[in-house]
Amino acid sequence: MYNKIRSLIFKLDPETAHNLAIQTLKLNKFNKRKKEYNKKLSSEIFGKQVDNPIGLAAGFDKNAEVYNSIFNLGFGFVEVGTITPLKQYGNPKPRVFRLEEDEALINRLGFNNSGAENISQRIKQNPPKGFFGINIGPNKESKDKINDYLICLKKFYNLADYITINISSPNTENLRELHDHEKLDNLLESINNEKKKLSTNVPIVVKISPDIDESEIDRTSELFINKNISAVIISNTTDKFRDNLKNANRLEKGGLSGKPLSIKSDLLIQKFYKNLKGKVKIIGVGGIDSAIDVISKLRSGANLVQLYTGMVFKGPNIASKINTELDIMIEKEGFKNLNEIVGTK
Ligand code: FNR
Repeated sequence: MYNKIRSLIFKLDPETAHNLAIQTLKLNKFNKRKKEYNKKLSSEIFGKQVDNPIGLAAGFDKNAEVYNSIFNLGFGFVEVGTITPLKQYGNPKPRVFRLEEDEALINRLGFNNSGAENISQRIKQNPPKGFFGINIGPNKESKDKINDYLICLKKFYNLADYITINISSPNTENLRELHDHEKLDNLLESINNEKKKLSTNVPIVVKISPDIDESEIDRTSELFINKNISAVIISNTTDKFRDNLKNANRLEKGGLSGKPLSIKSDLLIQKFYKNLKGKVKIIGVGGIDSAIDVISKLRSGANLVQLYTGMVFKGPNIASKINTELDIMIEKEGFKNLNEIVGTK
C-alpha cells in the first residue's frame, strides 16, 4: 500500500511531506488502539516496562504533537524533540533532502521547534500512553549552552521517562565540541547537580555522534559510568560518508541518516558495549528498516533501538511490520526474550 502512495509523497519537498504526515497523524485516524505484541518482545529499562524494542527517534515529532498516534502505530517508545529553551525557526529552507537510491536523508534543520514552555504545556495536556523520552538541546544563539540544557531539564524532568542530552547534531555550530572530555564532564556534572536540586531521579541519556574520535571511546565510557548516565544513544546523523553515495544530493550540507549509517553505528555500539557491559544501557539507531537490522543492533549490544529514516522509505507501519517479524523469529529460535541476544556479536 505505502509503496503505491510513496511515489506521490516523494514528489513533494521532504519537509512539506513531513508536515503533511504530522497533520495526518494529528487526526489519529489510523489505529485507535495501541497494538498488543508477544510479551517476549517487551523488556524492562530504567525500572519501567517497554512493550517492544522499536522507538521513534528524535527529530520526527519535534514539537510533541503526535506521540500518542505513534504509539498506536506500534512503536514501543517515542522520543520527542530536540527541544530548546526558546522557540527557533532553524536554518533557511530547503533543509531536508532525500537520497532515494541510497535510502538516506540529509537534513540541516537546525533544531526548529516551538520552544520549551509551549511544548511542556502541550505534553501536560496530553499524557503519553507509553514509554516517553524528551530530547533537549541549546538554542543556536545561546551564550551558555550548559544553562540551556538545565533550563530544559527543569521544564521537562517530571514529564518524561527519560531525558536525552543531545550533544550530537551537526547542524548547531560547535555543539559537537561537547564530546570533548572536559566539556562533557562539566556538562554531566552540572546536569547531576541540577537533578539533586530538583530531587529527581529522572534517567539521563546522552546522544552521541558517529563522527567521534574513536580513541576517546574508553574515556567517554568511563565518564558515562562515573556520572551515572542511564543510557547512551548511538548515534545521531553523520557529516561524513559521502563518497559512496549515488544521489545528486549527496554533497548537501547537513547530517546524513538511513542505510549508509547502519554499519558505522553497529560498530560503535559494539565498541561501547565492550566497555559499558550493561552498566549503561545502549539505544541503537542508524539505518534500521527491518527485523534483521534490529537483531544486528541488539547483538552489537543495544537494549532498545530507534529509527526515523526507515519510516520515510517504508511507511508508517514499519514498527508494526518489524515487530511481527521479530515475533515470528523469537518463536522459531525458541528465545525466552530479546535480552538473550543483547551483546552476542
Ligand atoms: C534527525 N535526528 C535528530 N536527532 C536528534 O537528536 N534531534 C533532532 O532534532 C533530530 N532531527 C532530525 C531530523 C531529521 C529530518 C532526521 C532524518 C533525523 C537524528 C535521528 O534521531 C537519528 O539519530 C538518525 O536519523 C539516525 O537514524 P535513522 O534515521 O537512520 O533511523
